[in-house]
Amino acid sequence: MFKKFPNNFIFGAAMSAEQTEGHGTTYKALTNWDLFYSKYPERFFNNVGPNITSDLMNHYSEDIKLFKEIGLTGLRYGFSWSRLFPEGDYTKPNKKAIIYYYDFIKSLKDNGINPFMSLVHFDMPSYLIKNGGFLNQDYIAHFTKYCQFIFQEFGKQVEYFVTFNEPMVVSECSYLLKYHWPLENDFKKMINSIHIMNLCNAIAVQELRKINQTSKIGLVLDLNYPYPKDDTNESDLEAVNNYRLLKFYSYSHPAMKGCYKKEYLELLKTLKIDLNLTDNDLELLKNNIIDFIGVNFYRPTRLQKPKVKINLKGLKFDQFFEEYILPNAEMNKDRGWEIYPQALYDTIMWVKHEYNNFPMFITENGMGVSNEEQFIINNQVNDQYRIDFVKRHLDSIYLAINDGANVGGYFMWAAIDNWSWINAYKNRYGFIRVELENQKRTIKKSGLWYKEISKNRGYDD
Ligand code: BG6
Repeated sequence: MFKKFPNNFIFGAAMSAEQTEGHGTTYKALTNWDLFYSKYPERFFNNVGPNITSDLMNHYSEDIKLFKEIGLTGLRYGFSWSRLFPEGDYTKPNKKAIIYYYDFIKSLKDNGINPFMSLVHFDMPSYLIKNGGFLNQDYIAHFTKYCQFIFQEFGKQVEYFVTFNEPMVVSECSYLLKYHWPLENDFKKMINSIHIMNLCNAIAVQELRKINQTSKIGLVLDLNYPYPKDDTNESDLEAVNNYRLLKFYSYSHPAMKGCYKKEYLELLKTLKIDLNLTDNDLELLKNNIIDFIGVNFYRPTRLQKPKVKINLKGLKFDQFFEEYILPNAEMNKDRGWEIYPQALYDTIMWVKHEYNNFPMFITENGMGVSNEEQFIINNQVNDQYRIDFVKRHLDSIYLAINDGANVGGYFMWAAIDNWSWINAYKNRYGFIRVELENQKRTIKKSGLWYKEISKNRGYDD
């Protein structure tokens, strides 16, 4: 059977500024990643830090041609705040950076590729980090000026903006799990950072609408769909419920419903955490609902009841839910993630039911694989595993669309091999391979396959 996707469905791919630009061709402020790397280079795979990248700024003309060649009709990318405002003075933007982003976006559009531009993708200028990052209310004032500038400058060019990429990952990794700078371990700080990002998200919606009624704006969430170990066991179900409240609803409700979910606030109350919500906060959230939700989906989450009790003095996730690995699960061993495309279908249907068929894009999904050079045949990475992975996830989207879900496109992570935060180059994700020694690019087998899918707007099963 031929699986045909809607005519306007975007066959895209994704990447981010910090992971592809490196130092680049213009001056930029240091970022949270530079600070982290300068202190603990050993925390990064093979000691490779944020400056070793696919050097996008010197190669973007060539790369955009390749993006066209593999059939992309959309590209998720983003601005680097540190590059646009190296000094944190919003009256003094970096002119070279503006020219670069302007030209990049123009070249995409000239090649029939619709740009989806994020304001923040795991990056923060060092001047904000030194100020306390998300824990200082000043972040909001800076963010407001930053987003106003972006919308004024690029609003006419860009149809789709994204505020934050995976803000829950940022909150938990920065303030609870010690994977992102500033490597803290404080549940309350994590919850506060969620609130700050929710307010900023709403402010961005408000600011965009003041000056531009045509562009759309969304939030990208990582939704690793949770399943209980035993769906007849009350405690396992409660673990799933807690997971959803803390990791999904904390962001999804403010963005798509304009308020916090009652049960989330009740849970915080039992934890003695007060968001100190003001009337202004409530109004801001209520009046500024996003236009679309971006779903990043890589894997399901398997959950069971926690073994430890809630301890208000040292709150941790495992007091609310415990993750486990399903015996005999199909795994991407290189990344340690289960492969289960059904969970993408379930995620989409969850958004559909929970949020009244909210417009959505699958903004990331992909497979990171180690030592891809072992699969090179005749100068090409023969990544049949990636083709299978993507196809099986597209199957889930196809099914969901046929069941009435409002999914406008799919963005494979990643358009091109890139630097993966603390995993650096342990795993490669791209449709396009990059040799780091000489920056040579080659399209992988999956890239050529995607070209056909995009051209035919579907595939034969
Ligand atoms: C997503 C991020 O969480 O997953 C990307 O938005 C990231 O920036 C991708 O690179 C893959 O994860 P990792 O940790 O393997 O790079």
